[in-house]
Amino acid sequence: MTIPVPVPPPRPMARGTLARRLVLRTTALVAIATIALSFFTALASFQILQAQLDGRLQSALNASPRGPDSGTKPGDPEGSGLIRLVQRAPGSGLFDSTQAPDALTADAAATLVVLDPADTPVTMGVEGLGLYRVLVKVDQRGRINVAALPFSAVITPLTRQLLIAGGLTLGAIALSFVGARQVVERSLRPLNRLAAAATEVASLPLSSGDAHLPVRVTAADADPSNEVGRVGAAFNRMLDHVEAALAARHRSETRVRQFVADASHELRNPLAAIRGYTELTLRDADTLPPDASHALERIDAESDRMSALVEDLLLLARLDSGPALDLQPTDVTELVLNAVDGARAAGPQHSWVLDLPDEIVMARADQHRLYQVVANLLANARVHTPPGTRVVTRLRREGDQAVISVSDNGPGVPPEIRDNVFERFARADASRVRQAGGSSTGLGLAIVAAVVAAHGGTVTLDSAPGHTTFTVRVPSP
Ligand SMILES: Nc1ncnc2c1ncn2[C@@H]1O[C@H](COP(=O)(O)OP(=O)(O)OP(=O)(O)O)[C@@H](O)[C@H]1O
Ligand SMILES: [Mg+2]
Repeated sequence: MTIPVPVPPPRPMARGTLARRLVLRTTALVAIATIALSFFTALASFQILQAQLDGRLQSALNASPRGPDSGTKPGDPEGSGLIRLVQRAPGSGLFDSTQAPDALTADAAATLVVLDPADTPVTMGVEGLGLYRVLVKVDQRGRINVAALPFSAVITPLTRQLLIAGGLTLGAIALSFVGARQVVERSLRPLNRLAAAATEVASLPLSSGDAHLPVRVTAADADPSNEVGRVGAAFNRMLDHVEAALAARHRSETRVRQFVADASHELRNPLAAIRGYTELTLRDADTLPPDASHALERIDAESDRMSALVEDLLLLARLDSGPALDLQPTDVTELVLNAVDGARAAGPQHSWVLDLPDEIVMARADQHRLYQVVANLLANARVHTPPGTRVVTRLRREGDQAVISVSDNGPGVPPEIRDNVFERFARADASRVRQAGGSSTGLGLAIVAAVVAAHGGTVTLDSAPGHTTFTVRVPSP
């Protein structure tokens, strides 16, 4: 099982976080709403102001044109920019200006009088004076009357209103950003705590041992009356179930391990007795019929093999149930040297090569168990390869590790067991086992893996026909 490295929770407003998305979307909604509101308010104001201006134009036209001393009308005071032109006589090309700002030139006035009479005013530019709202009508005497008022009466208040609305809109957007941030961060806090708890659980080693799950979300975060609380409550319940299941698995594993350990232990005494009696009887082999002595020799060999198997099982059961090693500073160089000497004596037909570094390599190790590891690898290189095979045992110190490798140029580990060669009872098919002398149990590499793991090290296999290397790495202080 791969245990993921705990991922630190992202900052609340980090890119891609839910909080950031919620805050940005809320702010965008508020921005759209306030901008739309300002726009439609401005539109309404424009229409109201323009209607007011048009009303003033109508009343300016309805009022009889001001004579030289008729006084100023209250609706159109002097300086309001009113332009008032009246045709001298129906059909005449001459117009009198009854009221006009000084800046109105004759050419500019001429552009106003060519407009057709209409019920509604039009907006047009007047040379030198800017935009004007102009109403042209025919009076009861058939004369064309022109009244024009500056459009700034609409534009100026509207600009002021837009400036104020713009300021308020910006304020509302800023306020909604800050407010949404506060609210979203507060609302998501329980979810973040839940995520932190889940991350913590994900980093626990649950694959083996008595997996205890000390993590739970608090009662406040597991309140089923809200959405996040329901997830929290379900999460806690799920952890309860997982913990119960892990405890059940651990109990059953312990029972099996205990059974194997007990059974192996109980088998030792009767096996010792069988071997003892067999050896005793074989001392007088001459007096026995040949069949009986052959059978006794087989019993002797098989009981030896069974004893080795029982010892292996007992060792594996011990390693499974916890650290069963006596770790001491160990001279690995000497250990490897002795193991290869032993292999050379056991397999004189193989070629044994030793490649040791100049300096002594030390490791914190259980000397007997680490010896067993190297001896098992060397035994495999002897038993599972033909005579004449060259076996190179190499020792190096790499960083803070002692690295022992055993390579041979034999036929290689059969492909069908290559992936699970370190599992218990992993062996090639029966015919090959018989070729190897029939003494194979398939526990040798399982013991190698268990002992190396108990040292806090690793063992790997690299195998192809003609080239097989087992590499063991253990911490070297
Ligand atoms: N150096 C090697 N060359 C080829 N095959 C190998 C080599 N080492 C191991 N194997 C294969 O891996 C299998 C498992 O090895 P392992 O040491 O676990 O069991 P074993 O040697 O069969 O029995 P045991 O070691 O318990 O007596 C062997 O049966 C053999 O097929
Ligand atoms: Mg073996």
